[in-house]
Amino acid sequence: MMAETADVARLARLLRESSHAVALTGAGISTESGLPDFRSPGTGLWETVDPMAYLSTEALERRPELFYSTGMELLGALREAQPNRAHLALASLEKAGRLKAVITQNIDGLHHKAGSQRVFEVHGHLRSGHCQRCRSTVAFSVLADKARAGEVPPRCDRCGGVLRPDVVLFGDPMPEAFDLAAREVLGSDLLLVVGSSLQVAPVAYLPQYATNLAIVNLTPTPYDGLAGVVIHDQAGPVIEALAQAVLS
Ligand code: APR
Repeated sequence: MMAETADVARLARLLRESSHAVALTGAGISTESGLPDFRSPGTGLWETVDPMAYLSTEALERRPELFYSTGMELLGALREAQPNRAHLALASLEKAGRLKAVITQNIDGLHHKAGSQRVFEVHGHLRSGHCQRCRSTVAFSVLADKARAGEVPPRCDRCGGVLRPDVVLFGDPMPEAFDLAAREVLGSDLLLVVGSSLQVAPVAYLPQYATNLAIVNLTPTPYDGLAGVVIHDQAGPVIEALAQAVLS
């Protein structure tokens, strides 16, 4: 606990001295909201679910019944979660002008729910879907309701094309949010990674462009050696203590 307090104090000083700090979050910031991450031993989602089978463009095209049943169930569960103290603390740091943006790999929308304003959702989100033919946008609930009513794949009311959620599936190109996020990192003077294994490209490349790097993650990451501060502990208490130290 003492080490952590000293590390939080060092991280708070880095944050106070920065003029353009940006956070990069992964599934680990949402586990304290009850959502499994992907790679934690024993609990990570990818230990029980083959992502390519359910959440890939190939599954969407070739096995829509799988995508729109198990895949949508996985996605739907994320929408019920609530932000935890790590999300709320990052939002309070942004409100105080101490954090300029959050780049997140998460599609759970918890940074928005916590009140963060500048959020770059580089793997998409669960607020809407779109028609793959006419590109019209629909609310995620419309898509989910159609699938639940047995319309698989759900079709566009306007043109009959197949609807899909606005999440980045395995096989999709990266959205514009990723390019904007990369620019945000290049323009930052501190990148604070929270709850990511930093193993999935191209997001995993971003920390190498950070002027100063800090990592709060339960387990080691490939970038620990490059980070000025590394705290291997729960994001909730650490980021809350960080916000208290910076904002007090
Ligand atoms: N506090 C801090 N760190 C945590 C916590 C917590 N409460 N819970 C888990 N972690 C850490 C884990 O130790 C792990 O290193 O968070 C990290 C989460 O890593 P992943 O499960 O790999 O999630 P992420 O980095 O977001 O994965 C990136 O991979 O499958 C794709 O699209 C998916 O966006 C995801 C991407």
